[in-house]
Amino acid sequence: MLNLTAADATRVATDLLCVPVCEDESLHAAAEVAALVKRIQSLPEFSGKKDETTLLYDAPETKARRILFAGLGPAGKVDAESLRSLAGRAVARAIEMKLKRVHFVVPTPEPLGLSLPEAAAALMEGARLANHIFDRYRKEKKHSPLNRIVFVVKKGAASRLKPLVTKVEAVCRGTLAARDWVTTPSNDKRPDALAADIARRARRSKLKVTVLDEAALKRLKCGSLLSVAAGSSKPARMVVLEYRHPGAKEKLALVGKGVTFDTGGISLKPPAGMEDMKSDMAGAAAVAGAMLTIAELKPALNVVAALPLVENMPSGSATRPGDIVTSYSGKTIEIGNTDAEGRLILVDAIAYLVKTAKPHAVVDLATLTGACVMALGERIAGVFSPDDRLAEALLASSGATHERCWRMPLPDDYRDFMKSDTADIRNLSSTRWGGAITAALFISAFVDNTPWAHVDIAGPASISKKGPYCGVGGTGFGVRLLCDLIENWKPLS
Ligand code: BES
Ligand code: ZN
Ligand code: ZN
Repeated sequence: MLNLTAADATRVATDLLCVPVCEDESLHAAAEVAALVKRIQSLPEFSGKKDETTLLYDAPETKARRILFAGLGPAGKVDAESLRSLAGRAVARAIEMKLKRVHFVVPTPEPLGLSLPEAAAALMEGARLANHIFDRYRKEKKHSPLNRIVFVVKKGAASRLKPLVTKVEAVCRGTLAARDWVTTPSNDKRPDALAADIARRARRSKLKVTVLDEAALKRLKCGSLLSVAAGSSKPARMVVLEYRHPGAKEKLALVGKGVTFDTGGISLKPPAGMEDMKSDMAGAAAVAGAMLTIAELKPALNVVAALPLVENMPSGSATRPGDIVTSYSGKTIEIGNTDAEGRLILVDAIAYLVKTAKPHAVVDLATLTGACVMALGERIAGVFSPDDRLAEALLASSGATHERCWRMPLPDDYRDFMKSDTADIRNLSSTRWGGAITAALFISAFVDNTPWAHVDIAGPASISKKGPYCGVGGTGFGVRLLCDLIENWKPLS
C-alpha cells in the first residue's frame, strides 16, 4: 500500500498531493514546490500554523487534482510525532473525500532537526496507521481505505529508503492486528476463539505456536491463572509464540495480559463503563502484534511470548474473595479481590516462561490498574523495573515511537501491604493508595532474578475519541514500543 517515487512532485498525477509546510522555514528544495508554497502562504488563510490546512484544486503548475497544504507550525517545534499526525490527518481527510490515491511530498528534513529516514518513516507510519477502518460489524460500509499512498522523495533517495517501507509496513500490520483484536467485542474473542485466531495469524507468519488448553494448564499447575477463568463457561488458554534467529545471542521473553473481558468476577465492577473491559486483553494483543511484526523483520534476537487468555466472570463456579490458590511457582495466593485478576494470570505465565525458556529478560504488558490511569492519564503507560538498563531501553523506545512511558518506583517497603495472614501473598493491597505500584510489586514477587520490566498500559490501550492516526477502540499501544526495543536490543550485562 505504501510506495516511494523519486519524481518531480509537480509532475505526479494523483487524487491528492499533500505538501507539509512550516510557518518559518522552507521545507521544499524543488523550486516549483517551493514557489507554490510561497504563493499559498501569501494568502491570509494559510501561513503553515500547526494543523492548519488548505486545499487547492487543479493548480495549473501541477498534475494533481487537489493539493493539500498542511501546516506544521514553527520548524523548531516539529518532531517525528508532528509528521505522524500530519500524515494521519491527511489520510483521514482523503478517506472522508472518498479518494483512492494520495501522494505526500517528503520535506527536506534538515530544518526540522530530523534525518531523512526519520522524517519519511514518521510520515509513512502516520499515513499507514490512519488508513484502516474497523467496519466488519457494519453491513453498510461508509468509507473505504486508500489503495495507494506514495511518498515523493528527491532523486537518489528512493532506493535508500526502500527498506524503510518494508519495515514500516510490517510494524503497522502488527499494530493494526493488535488494534483489531482489542476493538473486537468480547463475545467474538472468548479465550478459545482468540487463541485460535492468534495461533492462525502466527502460523501464517511462520512463528512456532503452542496453544496450551485447560488440561495442559492443569497439568502445569497454573492454579493462579486457572482461578481467574473458573467463573467463565469458556476455559483458559495460554498461547506460546516463538521466534528464533540463527545468529541470536540472547532471548527475550514477552508476556501480555489477555483478559478477554473483565467483569471483576465476584468482586463485580460497577456497570458504568464496564464495556471498556473488552480491551483488558490489550497487553496480549500488543505482544501478539509485535510477534507478527518481528516474524517479518527477522531481528537477531530470539523472542518467546506467552499470552494467558481468560474471561473474568462471576458464576457459581467462580473464585471467591478469601479463596487461596496455588500458583505455578508453588507460592500460594490469597484472593483479596477477584477484580485484581491481571496479576494472577501474569505471574503464572511469567514464571512458566522464566522456568522453561530461561530468557535473558522478560517484559510484560498489561492493562493492569485503574490507579496507573489516575497517576499518568490515558496517554502514558507506567514502566516498572528494578533493572535500570532495561527500563532505560524501554524509555528510549518510548521516545523513538511516541508510545509514551514514564518510569515508576518499586519501593521495597510497599511489599508489606500485600502480606496475607493465611497464604504466602495476597493479590490485594491493604491500602487503596499506590495501586499501580503494589500491583507491579506483586508480580515482582514471582520473577526471581531474571531482569524484568512491567508496562502498565491501562491508560493508552484504547481510546474513546479518535486520534490523528488512530480510530476509536484499540490503539495497538506497545507493538511499536516492543518492535523498537527488539530492533535495538543490547545485552543487559
Ligand atoms: N482491568 C482492570 C484495570 C483497568 C482499569 C484497565 C481501567 C483499564 C482501565 C484490572 O483488572 C482491575 O480491575 N484492577 C483493579 C485492581 C483493584 C481491585 C486492586 C483496579 O484498578 O481498580
Ligand atoms: Zn479486574
Ligand atoms: Zn483486568
